[in-house]
Formats: sequence, structure tokens, C-alpha cells
Amino acid sequence: MTAASKLQAILERARGARVVVLTGAGISAESGIPTFRGPEGLWTIGSREYQPQEIATWGFFERQPDAVWSWYLYRRSICQQAQPNAGHRALVDLETLLQDRFRLVTQNVDGLHLRAGNSAERTYSIHGNLDFARCAAECVNELVPMPLHGAWARGCTLGPREREALHCRHCGSWLRPHVLWFDETYDEPRYRYESSIGAVSDAALLIVVGTSGATTLPMQMGMIAANRGVAIIDVNPETNPFSRLAQAAGVHVAGPAARVLPELVRAFRASADADRQRRRS
Ligand code: APR
Repeated sequence: MTAASKLQAILERARGARVVVLTGAGISAESGIPTFRGPEGLWTIGSREYQPQEIATWGFFERQPDAVWSWYLYRRSICQQAQPNAGHRALVDLETLLQDRFRLVTQNVDGLHLRAGNSAERTYSIHGNLDFARCAAECVNELVPMPLHGAWARGCTLGPREREALHCRHCGSWLRPHVLWFDETYDEPRYRYESSIGAVSDAALLIVVGTSGATTLPMQMGMIAANRGVAIIDVNPETNPFSRLAQAAGVHVAGPAARVLPELVRAFRASADADRQRRRS
């Protein structure tokens, strides 16, 4: 069975049912946003280079809030300069086509899915979103829009204006980025944990785009889909744990998201049109 005929059979089986899309850093790679794991992710503080996995932690923030904010302001300024690409736009088209049968679970904190036009109701940002901050002392649980905008050079240090803007206006504590740190755990109120598990538990198709499977909730979703015999379409130039799960019931489409996803959504639309024709005749 060719990949194209496999894909056709998968779309037929998913007709009328829920479709969950799970995205990672790879979908934003073609928007120019470096992934955590590439060499560009390294960060020098003082005389030492740090891995993101060391900086993006509550423990490091408690010790060096200025350094953590400087890193996030730099990453956010890259995200702000980036534009959604054809892969992001294809997922907006897919949501328009599927409506409430569609759910999007993203690991990306760059905000590009929402900027492209996916709805906040059906988009679960399970690692947070750099467009928002919240009180580090949790005096209130509300999210505040990120108080600083614009370019932020690598290694820049906070001045008095930035420090003042990055403190809670209620209690005066530091604000923190609305991002799930490596020494923190998923939850429902902030990161939509149960909603993501629930979505894949009654889906007929899981589309995985641009993720290396390095984090727990996405892998948990992949295992739930595989154990339920749900088809998995993995879109990634490289093989990865999801492409191996897809071998059982699905297909690995080896290619960049910005090329593959528009083709996939066209196939979805053709399948829906053919179904409408059949029902008319
Ligand atoms: N299209 C699709 N996939 C791509 C593309 C592309 N154009 N370019 C790269 N990829 C794939 C890579 O092959 C890799 O498998 O995207 C994946 C990126 O993997 P990671 O950098 O590990 O990103 P991700 O899986 O999203 O990381 C998960 O871990 O670093 C933490 O919290 C952070 O959200 C992040 C999470």
C-alpha cells in the first residue's frame, strides 16, 4: 500500500470524527524560530554557557530572575519578528473545515498558531505562551499581556524600566513568563492537561507535526492514540518516536510542515467533497 493510498484510507476512516493535531517546534522552524535543541539554543551567562533545560526552570529563576527574563525577552523578540508560515495557515484552514471536530495541542510558546488564526477555544498551549506573564508569587492567578515589546538583543541586561515593568502591580513580586518550566508539572487550569488527554481519547485521527517526542504529555497522547488503534500521521523530515508509533496504524510523511500540511488539508477537503457528492447521489 503506497503512502498516498494509506493516507486516503486514513482520511476516509476519520470522516465525521474528531481530529487532534499536536505540534512542536518544527512547525515554526520555517518561520525562523530556532528550536531549543539546536546549537543556537545555547545561552551564555557570565563566563558559562547554559542549556535551555537549565535556564527554563523555577530553580534558576529564583536564583537569577534577571538572567531568565533576559533570555525570554530575547526568545520572545525572535517570536515577535517571526510570521506564521504555510504550515500554520494550513491548520487554520483545517479548523475552518472541521469546526468543532478539530483540536490543536501545541508545545510551542511562540503564539504563532493564534496569530495565524486558530481559535483560543480549540487551541491548547500545553507549554504556555510567551505573549503572557503572571505573578511569580501567585498573588493573583490572572495572566497579564507581556509588559515589554520590541527587539531585545542576545545577552542584553534589564534596566530599571524593564525591572519595574516586570514586577507584579498587585504585590510587587517578580512577574514570570507564562511558560511551563522543566522542573514544573502540567496542570489543567494553565496548561490544559486533562483537555489534551480527553481530546486524544475520543479522536479518530492524531496528526503530529514537528516534534522530537522529548516531553511527557505529547508522548502520553501518542501512546493513548496507538493503544486505541487510532491512526497517526507524523509530519517530520526526520524519523522520531511518533513516526515509529505511526508504523502500526498510520503513516510518516517525511517532509517540512510548510509543504506537507497544505497538501494534507487539500486531501481532507477532497475527501469531504467526495463524501458530500456521495450523499447527494
Ligand atoms: N517541519 C516539520 N518538522 C520539522 C521541521 C519542519 N520544517 N524542521 C525540524 N523539524 C522537526 C525536527 O526533526 C524535530 O523532530 O521538529 C522537531 C523539533 O524537535 P525539538 O526541537 O525537540 O522541539 P519539540 O519536540 O517541540 O520540543 C518539545 O521540549 O524544549 C522543550 O518545552 C520545549 O516545547 C519544547 C519541548
